[in-house]
This record gives sequence, structure tokens and C-alpha cells, in this order.
Amino acid sequence: MNSKQIAGEKACEFIEDGMVVGLGTGSTAYYMIQKLGDRVAEGLQVTGVVTSKATEKLAKERNIPLMDLNDVGEIDLTIDGADEVDGSYRGIKGGGGALLFEKLVAHASKKSIWVVGEDKVVETLGAFPLPVEVVPFGYKQVERQLEERGYNPELRHFEDGSIYLTDSQNYILDLHIQAIENPEELNDWLNNLPGVVENGLFLNYASSIVIGYSDGHAEVREK
Ligand code: A5P
Repeated sequence: MNSKQIAGEKACEFIEDGMVVGLGTGSTAYYMIQKLGDRVAEGLQVTGVVTSKATEKLAKERNIPLMDLNDVGEIDLTIDGADEVDGSYRGIKGGGGALLFEKLVAHASKKSIWVVGEDKVVETLGAFPLPVEVVPFGYKQVERQLEERGYNPELRHFEDGSIYLTDSQNYILDLHIQAIENPEELNDWLNNLPGVVENGLFLNYASSIVIGYSDGHAEVREK
């Protein structure tokens, strides 16, 4: 078993009968959703709220009942992946491009658990490029301002060379910062920039982190 599978399957144990569950996106959340599909087949009653079109497809394949975010009140628990996590339960998300829906779902959740392999735990955020979702209109103006601050923005592309589009048909600028000394300040600055829809800093969302290790064990850290 790889560390992502260990983390994803462990976190699935926190899902209880009757819960409304936010279903994350990515290759670690994948294992949680597969496990949840097994539990639903055995009779567990849950309602899922998806964080991307890819997750919607996966959840439907596993017969997990779904509701639109608009139609639920609070979400009991969201389980999602992350690209980097620091010791203060802050993280970078959006490597898979789903940061906007992921933040909306996390914000509506009473609890969020992140599932990560051991390699994602860092001292300082920023070695992983920070995704910033921007509207296509005038995005070069945003890019210019990010360049001026020394953030080395790079427009994300699909493998075929075309510009990457999010589920909301926006672009992503990945910032190559290396070390983010003050994530709160950067988050505020980015959110005040016209044209920015969302950024991948998730600073106050994770209540627990499940870390999978390649030796086969999982560690649960509670905030
Ligand atoms: C999706 O946009 C992301 O936020 C993912 O949750 C994150 O990139 C983790 O992905 P993996 O589990 O595939 O590494």
C-alpha cells in the first residue's frame, strides 16, 4: 500500500452514519472515496458534496448519494488532500486545480480532515507552487503584479499545450515562491487583487491531518 492509500483509507473511518460529507479531489482523496463506496455498498447512509467534476464522476461510479452545495446546510466533515501542510495546520492546495470548490466546501464544513503522504509535511510552505485562480479577462495584469512582487507566476497548461481551465473555466497562475514567510499576509494581499478568484493557501480549515507512511502506518494529528 502506498502512503496516500494508507492516509485516505484511515480517514474514511471518521465518517459516521447519517453524515453529510465533503468529498475532496486528487489522488489521495481517491482512496477515501473508494473506501467510502465500499461502506455505502455495505449499507452506510451518507450524503456527499463534491469538490470537482472529477470527484463527482468518481462518487457516482461508486454509488455515493450526492447533494449540491447549494442544497445542504452545514457539512459535517470534509476529507480532502493537500499539496503541503505545515506544523500549524496550514496548507497549500490546488495542485489538481480544484482549489475554489475545495475552499467553498471546506468553509461550509464543521470539520476538515486532510489526507497526505508523509512527504507533504513541511516546515515552511512554498516549495510547492502556490496556485492562484484568476479570471481569463485581463489576467496578464494580475500576472504582472505577481511578477513585480517576485512571485514568479507561471500560467498553467494542459499536457497538450493548451491553457489549463478550472471547473469554473478560469485560469491558474502557479507562484514559484519557494518559502512563504508570512502566509496570512500573502493570503490577504492575493484576495484583494482584482481578477483573483481564489488562492491555494488554506490557513484555517484543517482540524485534523491524517498522514500515511510508506511503512504502512497512519498518524492522526488533531489541532
Ligand atoms: C486538488 O486541487 C488539490 O487541492 C488536491 O487536494 C491536492 O492537490 C492533493 O492532491 P493529491 O492527493 O493528488 O496529491
